[in-house]
Amino acid sequence: MSATPAPGGPVEKVNLAEKLELLHEYWSPKIVGELNDSHVKLVKFKGEFVWHFHEREDELFLVLRGRLLMKFRDREVRIKEGEFIIVPRGVEHLPVAEEEVHVVLLEPKTTLNTGNVENERTIHQLERL
Ligand code: NI
Repeated sequence: MSATPAPGGPVEKVNLAEKLELLHEYWSPKIVGELNDSHVKLVKFKGEFVWHFHEREDELFLVLRGRLLMKFRDREVRIKEGEFIIVPRGVEHLPVAEEEVHVVLLEPKTTLNTGNVENERTIHQLERL
């Protein structure tokens, strides 16, 4: 795949607009790069996800387009284009997209999208774009 650093190998750039055109499903993150023990993922959100937390992983959500509402049990945070939020491990969260939102995720390779919850939204094997 592209954007995978190999020792001494070619360095490739990633064009997010091009990758976004290949994304047709909501809530289905695709891997667009990796560094150290983390994946860089691209995802489109629309609607409401599921309450969950990640036992061991912190998650970064960088909003490229639209507005993401991140609900926590005690508050809500709106993340606009050009802003990011880091959800620490162990903190329950519910991503909500009142309209379509495009997001870059940066998180450890072990991260499961639904965290501690296993349901029809859970994706174990992520595709690479
Ligand atoms: Ni999460």
